[in-house]
Amino acid sequence: MIYTYSGLFCATVNPYKWLPVYDAECVSAYRGKKRMEAPPHIFSVSDNAFQFMQTDRENQSVLITGESGAGKTVNTKRVIQYFATIAVGGPKRDDSKMMTGHIPEILDMALITTNPYDFPMCSMGQITVASIDDKVELEATDNAIDILGFTNEEKVAIYRMTGAVLHHGNMKFKQKQREEQAEPDGTEEADKVAYLLGLNSADMLKALCYPRVKVGNEYVTKGQTVPQVFFKAGLLGVLEEMRDEKLSSLVTMTQALARGYVMRKEFVKMTERRHVKNSSF
Ligand SMILES: Nc1ncnc2c1ncn2[C@@H]1O[C@H](COP(=O)(O)OP(=O)(O)OP(=O)(O)O)[C@@H](O)[C@H]1O
Ligand SMILES: [Mg+2]
Repeated sequence: MIYTYSGLFCATVNPYKWLPVYDAECVSAYRGKKRMEAPPHIFSVSDNAFQFMQTDRENQSVLITGESGAGKTVNTKRVIQYFATIAVGGPKRDDSKMMTGHIPEILDMALITTNPYDFPMCSMGQITVASIDDKVELEATDNAIDILGFTNEEKVAIYRMTGAVLHHGNMKFKQKQREEQAEPDGTEEADKVAYLLGLNSADMLKALCYPRVKVGNEYVTKGQTVPQVFFKAGLLGVLEEMRDEKLSSLVTMTQALARGYVMRKEFVKMTERRHVKNSSF
């Protein structure tokens, strides 16, 4: 097993392959169980948080930490999956809708191709994993975005942003002759990034090569070398912020869902109690 308890913590190793430990049967196996009643699992951590929320009527937090690639995002998704499953009473996957072939449409939206080697930044390592079907995963993700209630506009924005990140990695810069200054080496990729983000391509390139920084009360234009532009976090920083915003709205939504579930349960209990009281007269 990949999960182990150590004191209050649940430690996890990344198995780098899909293990059959996250299906609906697994969810029900942890439902309402105490920590020591079942093997260590992220579902147990999730269920305990849910139980504590119900009994103590306190908001709960799950802290997920680890180095890059450790599995934080995957495990966060498992926590959300757990709450979503127990809140709606089982996973409802509409497979007929899933396989309608959204993929060409998505590729068009993000201005990307199906060849990972067109985007070296995301294809430097191993690009396939035997047990993972990227097409199925993408369709499932697309479906999940719908189920979670994102509007179509928001979904298009997610794909465009993803496309922008991919093309961002393909932009090329060269050094100006006899100067420590970077300049764009072609604008084709920048044009795509700008189109996807709704920016003016020339302005974006100018901001990358000659960023304006505030010094005291004045703005000054700064020169940038090629490596500085290459590692510039500006644009990616903004994207990261946008992603965080989306994630927190997702968490809020899950919280609301769970709260609604508890309230409805409470309401049923209340009406039942009232019923018992009335019928005893
Ligand atoms: N429990 C798991 N089962 C199967 N594969 C996993 C699991 N956890 C992680 N992985 C694999 O490891 C990859 C990296 O995990 P993940 O994206 O969750 O890392 P992270 O901790 O969020 O990294 P970063 O800090 O860079 O965002 C996943 O894309 C997946 O392929
Ligand atoms: Mg992550």
